[in-house]
Amino acid sequence: MPAITNIDDLKRIHRRRVPKMFYDYAESGSWTEQTFRENTSDFDQIRLRQRVAVDMSGRSTATKMIGEDVSMPVALAPVGLTGMQHADGEIKAARAAEAFGVPFTLSTMSINSIEDVASATHKPFWFQLYTMRDEDYVNRLIERARAANCSALVITLDLQILGQRHKDIKNGLTAPPKLTPATIANLATKWRWGIEMLQTKNRGFGNIVGHVDNISDASDLSAWTAEQFDPTLDWGKIAKIKEKWGGKVILKGILDAEDAKMALQVGADAIIVSNHGGRQLDGALSSIRMLPSILDAVGDQVEVHLDSGIRSGQDVLKAMAMGAKGTYIGRAFIYGLGAMGQAGVTRALEVIHKEFDTTMALCGETQIGNLGRHNLLVPKDFEGDWQG
Ligand SMILES: Cc1cc2nc3c(=O)[nH]c(=O)nc-3n(C[C@H](O)[C@H](O)[C@H](O)COP(=O)(O)O)c2cc1C
Repeated sequence: MPAITNIDDLKRIHRRRVPKMFYDYAESGSWTEQTFRENTSDFDQIRLRQRVAVDMSGRSTATKMIGEDVSMPVALAPVGLTGMQHADGEIKAARAAEAFGVPFTLSTMSINSIEDVASATHKPFWFQLYTMRDEDYVNRLIERARAANCSALVITLDLQILGQRHKDIKNGLTAPPKLTPATIANLATKWRWGIEMLQTKNRGFGNIVGHVDNISDASDLSAWTAEQFDPTLDWGKIAKIKEKWGGKVILKGILDAEDAKMALQVGADAIIVSNHGGRQLDGALSSIRMLPSILDAVGDQVEVHLDSGIRSGQDVLKAMAMGAKGTYIGRAFIYGLGAMGQAGVTRALEVIHKEFDTTMALCGETQIGNLGRHNLLVPKDFEGDWQG
């Protein structure tokens, strides 16, 4: 095994080991994938300010996200079908996150259920809620997350309707994969993945199957989404869900200052500036580009987190120095999981942690609280002069 020195190394192994339909599922954006591409290329436009002769001893990457101690400001984002990237993937990712001291967020569309993950971990994790037409089912999900001792509800707001990812249609994405000649031919080359999958019973949507009566085909993600996701979700409903939950709420998928102000009004504990990793509105600007205007609008009143495009510790530092109070990785941990299971998620976290820590040091900083715009060189036209 060659040395794994960066997230791209894990991505290459992920691609080799995981069936094409699940690699493609992770590695796509919607339609032209412009937003997906710019999420990463916009980070590259921001440069770092090198400082020297600063005592760099006693550095710490530890901080808090929504009042919880974290060893670095990097949570694992909710990712649907994680348990198809590697057998029992949610349990493995949650365990890696717990050992590393960073939050794990379980997707509604996970393979391992809320209860599976709770019984395999010791610390509370966060639960991501998609709102469905079936209100009783949503209420039951909230109850289940409470019973599992989840310490935050992450409500995703940018997926009332599913953005089209061409590859998923072409590949006929299902969980578990439907056995067609093309999938059988591809699965035959992924023996390691297959052997591990045969050893678990968890191969369907764990939070859904057995918990709702009216599912026509739970294995077909897009059909089920189109059927079940609530197109009528609005701020009034969000406020009601928040009330029902009664605990900490993080609103995910905010990409506009006006929506950030609405999030503030419903009393969010944190917001995640996110475009769903470029998987929803193709043509939207990257999260890192939208961050400054959102911070200007609400940054002193609510904790502002960011995801979409983070592939390195340098990216984490750029987001934090811009003013975010925490970040999330989606694909970066999925590459690790697909490559090497739990050890791969740990490796992804180690890589990002080392990059973040070293970058802090070379920027002349020892504490997260001291990071700021003074660490960055941002092109004058970075935010762009866009006319509404
Ligand atoms: C394969 C995949 C599945 C995802 N599933 C969900 C999901 O079920 N719920 C959700 O809120 N976000 C989901 N997301 C979005 C992530 O939570 C996160 O916003 C995104 O991955 C961040 O971008 P990054 O992958 O560039 O880090 C998914 C992202 C990917 C790549």
